[in-house]
Amino acid sequence: MTQERAKERVLSGMRPTGALHLGHYHGALKNWVRLQSIMECFYFVADWHALTTHYESREVIEKNVYEMVIDWLAAGLDPEQCTIFLQSRLPEHAELFTLLAMGTPIGWLERVPTYKDQQEKLKDKDLSTYGFLGYPLLQAADILIYRANYVPVGEDQASHVELTREAARRFNHLYGREANFEVLAQDALAKLEKDSLKRVEKSRKAWQEKGDAKALEGALGFINSSEALSVVERERIESWIRGTGKSVLTEPQVLLTEASKLPGLDGAKMSKSYNNSIAMREDKTAIEHKVRRMPTDPARVRREDPGEPDKCPVWQFHLVYSDESTKQWAANGCRTAGIGCLECKQPVIDAILKEQQPMLERAQPYVDNPKIVRDIVDAGTDRARIVARATMHDVRGAMGLNY
Ligand code: TRP
Ligand code: SF4
Repeated sequence: MTQERAKERVLSGMRPTGALHLGHYHGALKNWVRLQSIMECFYFVADWHALTTHYESREVIEKNVYEMVIDWLAAGLDPEQCTIFLQSRLPEHAELFTLLAMGTPIGWLERVPTYKDQQEKLKDKDLSTYGFLGYPLLQAADILIYRANYVPVGEDQASHVELTREAARRFNHLYGREANFEVLAQDALAKLEKDSLKRVEKSRKAWQEKGDAKALEGALGFINSSEALSVVERERIESWIRGTGKSVLTEPQVLLTEASKLPGLDGAKMSKSYNNSIAMREDKTAIEHKVRRMPTDPARVRREDPGEPDKCPVWQFHLVYSDESTKQWAANGCRTAGIGCLECKQPVIDAILKEQQPMLERAQPYVDNPKIVRDIVDAGTDRARIVARATMHDVRGAMGLNY
């Protein structure tokens, strides 16, 4: 079981449009770090996706590609445990995107909620482009090309994973099973003992001809516990028993990332564009300055006025960063006007700096020697390419493009 889990693959990406902040850390990155030790993880810099909104300011992307990878490494991604790579180095993504595009109705893309939402939100940009409409389909290609089982993303991206599933289903429906599925299935079946093979054949018949679900279940249980078969072989036999053939593309599942509990400095969602963020590698004086200037409960006009933590964004920071006794001290001090707001903010500043310390330490060698970062991305890209090429080989085969 553990072995099988280890084979499950995770894929996710981020757009390199700015320095990552504590919201990214507490939302996505901590989760990525956790996943790297339990599954096979692929994480990539989605620079083409960044171009869909920044095609007029591509220098932003250039500046942030490797900086973002340093932020990832600072957060604790370990290139020995996960594969880190760069989307634009793998033209295979574009090839799959093109092939998927052939059978994808435009309506599917127009109906993805982020399409209109982002156009509304980013009014200063002209997003009525072909590239922007295709954004979720490019994302589908990113995911499907690695046959990822899980895609850890925030709620806002769930519809893109759903579109990915639809694209995979459609592809499998149109172009079906592996071209040489029957031969491969027979090879796998040949590994079974004679008696077992008979039993499996009987169950297959019972399922396919009479819809006997018990027979199917029994046969699958048997196959899945067979030591003689690899995971891929088990899958092939399962598809053979079911009569479905092995699908070329894998439907991924979304792994919803819990939203970060850390709001921005003003209490709204932390975002670089709202100017309410603290960068992961922000310098110490800037952190002190930003937290000291945070708005507090407006009722506390003077030091003697009592306040209500629930009306104060600093309190949300305490909830993320402080232990029980500090939280009690802050809440009581606030409600009784026993402490001032600057006093209340100090433990938050200390905790952010403390959290940041190991990140700065991890980042330092990469900042000093950017070549190491490039080497990590090169090595990861080579690893990713092997998987991407294998999938494209199957995809071209399934579509009959190997002429
Ligand atoms: N659209 C994602 C975001 O904005 C980034 C992304 C691109 C992505 N391709 C992906 C995420 C594939 C997961 C899987 O956050
Ligand atoms: Fe906010 Fe703390 Fe000031 Fe209360 S004392 S208003 S919780 S900063």
